[in-house]
Parts: sequence; structure tokens; C-alpha cells
Amino acid sequence: MMRIAIIVGSTRPGRKGEVVAKWVHGVAQGRSDAEFELVDIKDFNLPLLDEPMSPMMGQYAHQHTKRWSAKIASFDAYVFVTPEYNHGTSGALKNAIDFLYHEWVNKAAGFVGYGGASGTRAVESLRLVMGELQVADVKAQVGLSLFTDFENFTTFKPTSGQETAVNAMLDQVIAWGGALKALREKRVEGAW
Ligand SMILES: Cc1cc2nc3c(=O)[nH]c(=O)nc-3n(C[C@H](O)[C@H](O)[C@H](O)COP(=O)(O)O)c2cc1C
Repeated sequence: MMRIAIIVGSTRPGRKGEVVAKWVHGVAQGRSDAEFELVDIKDFNLPLLDEPMSPMMGQYAHQHTKRWSAKIASFDAYVFVTPEYNHGTSGALKNAIDFLYHEWVNKAAGFVGYGGASGTRAVESLRLVMGELQVADVKAQVGLSLFTDFENFTTFKPTSGQETAVNAMLDQVIAWGGALKALREKRVEGAW
């Protein structure tokens, strides 16, 4: 069974990311075509990137990196739940991505963005990063607005249709994740 991580992309106290990611996880668990796990980058206590060698070398000096590497390597695909900070993703999520390389390569990813403008630009910024990591990012994405999906900009109440949007995104992640899993298992010479 394909394993998909739902990654909580914000770490600040009072973050909305946790409730959003838990909701995505709940929707995902209604499916039987993959296994889903909530992965909170906050739990890994990653400092700002402090590895002396490039992650492409895969030779990690620190225990926090080895732990993060083992977790991320164990999945076939990812759903990044990202806030929008200044038209980009969070520094915390970008930093966590930068810690690793081969763990991400030839996997699939989908996005759930949220913010004043539904996290659209945060997702676009992540798509650029995915290209370098050879992650196949799917078109269908979920955008949650502070204006319409949160009551008084505070309490998360996703509008009708958002659950359908999550499932449409997961359909694509599972399809591409499966294709890439087969590719990885073939270990095509020179593929990465
Ligand atoms: C530093 C910072 C920058 C932000 N910049 C934007 C922005 O550029 N566009 C936007 O739509 N919302 C922006 N927001 C609103 C956030 O997307 C919103 O507060 C969201 O809840 C943040 O995610 P979090 O609660 O999980 O940290 C910003 C919020 C913060 C804290």
C-alpha cells in the first residue's frame, strides 16, 4: 500500500496549520487506496540547516537530520499543507525540505495552501522547489481562504466543496505516486 505523508508546514504558536492538516488527514482516512500519516515538522526540532555537507551526499552529521531523513524516506508521496507568508511558503517548511535530497526524489506531491489569498502563491513557490528535487507535483490543489473557510478569521470551517477538492488532489497524488513507485522499484540506470 502506498504511504503518503501529510506534512504540517507551519510551526508558530497558535498556527492554523495543525487544524488544517488534521482535517486533510481526516478526509484522507476516508479512502482505502493509500495509507496516510500526519507528519509535523515541529516534532523534529530542526534548527536552521546545520549540516556541513550537501544533502545530495546523504552523509548526515546530526541526529535530528537522520531522524527527519528516515521519516521522509519512508513515504511514496507527500501532501504539503502550507501557510502563505509574504507570498511564499514558511521558512520552517523550506528549511525542512532543504535538509534532505534523495529522500524526496522521484516521489509525488500535492498541496493544500491556506491564508488571506488561499495560499496560492505559497504553493507556486513550492512548485519551483519541487522541480529541483525531482518531485512530481500534481495540478489539482486545495486553497483555503481565511475569509471564507475560517469563521471570524479564526475557527476553521471549510466551505462545502473543499473536501471534494482534497479528494481530487489525492486522486492525482496517488496515481502519480504509484507510477513513480514502480519507477523507483525498477531503479532505472541514471534516473537520479
Ligand atoms: C509572517 C506572515 C506573513 C504573511 N503573509 C501573507 C501573505 O503574503 N499572503 C497571505 O495571503 N497571507 C499572509 N499571511 C497570513 C497567513 O497566511 C495566515 O495568518 C495563516 O494562518 C498563517 O499560517 P499559520 O497560522 O499556520 O502560521 C501572513 C502571516 C504571517 C504570520
